Amino acid sequence: MTKTVNDQTTPLAASDFGRDFLWGCATSAYQIEGAAAEDGRVESIWDRFCAQPGAIRDGSTGAVACDHYHRWPEDLDLARSLGVRAYRFSIAWPRIFSGPGARPNQRGLDFYARLVDGMLERGLEPWATLYHWDLPQYLQDAGGWQHRATIDAFVEFADTMSGHLGGRVKHWITHNEPWCTAMHGNFDGAHAPGGKDLATAMQVCHNVLVSHGRAVPLIRANSDGAQVGISLSLHPISAASERPQDEAARVRQDGLRNRWFLDALTGRGYPRDVLALLADKAPQTAAGDMELIASPLDFIGVNYYFPEMVEDAPGTEPVDTRLVLPAGLERTAFGWEVAPGGLTALLTRIARDYQPAAIYVTENGSTYDDVVGPDGEVDDRERQSYLVRHLLALRETIAQGAPIKGYFAWSLLDNFEWGEGLARRFGITHVDFETQRRTLKTSGKWLRAFLAGADQSA
Ligand code: NOJ
Repeated sequence: MTKTVNDQTTPLAASDFGRDFLWGCATSAYQIEGAAAEDGRVESIWDRFCAQPGAIRDGSTGAVACDHYHRWPEDLDLARSLGVRAYRFSIAWPRIFSGPGARPNQRGLDFYARLVDGMLERGLEPWATLYHWDLPQYLQDAGGWQHRATIDAFVEFADTMSGHLGGRVKHWITHNEPWCTAMHGNFDGAHAPGGKDLATAMQVCHNVLVSHGRAVPLIRANSDGAQVGISLSLHPISAASERPQDEAARVRQDGLRNRWFLDALTGRGYPRDVLALLADKAPQTAAGDMELIASPLDFIGVNYYFPEMVEDAPGTEPVDTRLVLPAGLERTAFGWEVAPGGLTALLTRIARDYQPAAIYVTENGSTYDDVVGPDGEVDDRERQSYLVRHLLALRETIAQGAPIKGYFAWSLLDNFEWGEGLARRFGITHVDFETQRRTLKTSGKWLRAFLAGADQSA
């Protein structure tokens, strides 16, 4: 079948990816659930952060978001109607544990049991993320991720959830984007809890990775045959010029954003060059931590959105680099460069340098200023084009031999985009936040037709 993509004649069919390739879509708890004070859920760091004036660009919160807590059957129907085989969601820790020493909250456990059963009934494979940024506030009050007791609390949460759902959920992601947890949460202050201290951020980063490593064997013990991984936000990095200083800046940036995680998780320890740069801001580690962090994984989850370009900027924390945003490049409404080739470059590099058993793209997507037409439809051709071009790049990556086993579109629904609020839409489905009406956008219809194997003229 011949299809036209961006004025080129490009064949693209779901079957090109093979019968076993896993197609999915993704969401996370705080971004969609709402029902912030229901059924025993306690405050999370995001509830607290959203209440701070100016913290969220449009002043919105996740208190209601997509009201998914009440509308999940409709949302799972929607996912099924797309033809995806898997649904990635996250579990809200504040629905499960209400305070230090508390027993798990039965109503919270019941919600996720219903949700998972709903997926299974619809033929959707549940992919559960344990930590997608909504730390219970009581743990933050006690020191948060900077404090090693939070590792123990996470391990208890992971044990409880995998014990509860392990018979039904066979794919687990311990953490979503630990770089963001650490750096947005504690260095640039863009995310909850809003801290601005590099040493704290690096300690958080380390503790999160230790908690990951401790959870992996427990999840396996509780969930027979489970596949366990972690989702990382990774970026191909380029230098702003051929100057040796900028090339050195590229290596440093790559060290903190990519190698820090990939090296540690694959047993190489933290990169020495980055440790040296961080000097006294490097994290405190305890004996055995690095072995824990290197617990063998079944897959690496990669969340890919955009590449970064950097230049040398001595004295600029964290690694003496500055991002450069050249004019004239195609960008989404967020300003993120649209670079499908970056996906190929990133994934082939991970496959070559780290040889993971499997890689899943656990997120990829884009935000544009969608317009609802007079007929109520959202003709988001740019998002569709982003999706198509990234799938072409993914197919190319697989052709080059990288072990890419699946792709999850971010996101099933427009949702609460963290510091950007409800105004920044990433969904392939439009959500009217006044009426909670869901409308599949042109991009979502394209994905549905693509997965159904229909002609894919894009
Ligand atoms: C990655 C995060 O995991 C997700 O929560 C967020 O909405 C997307 N990036 C888009 O920024």
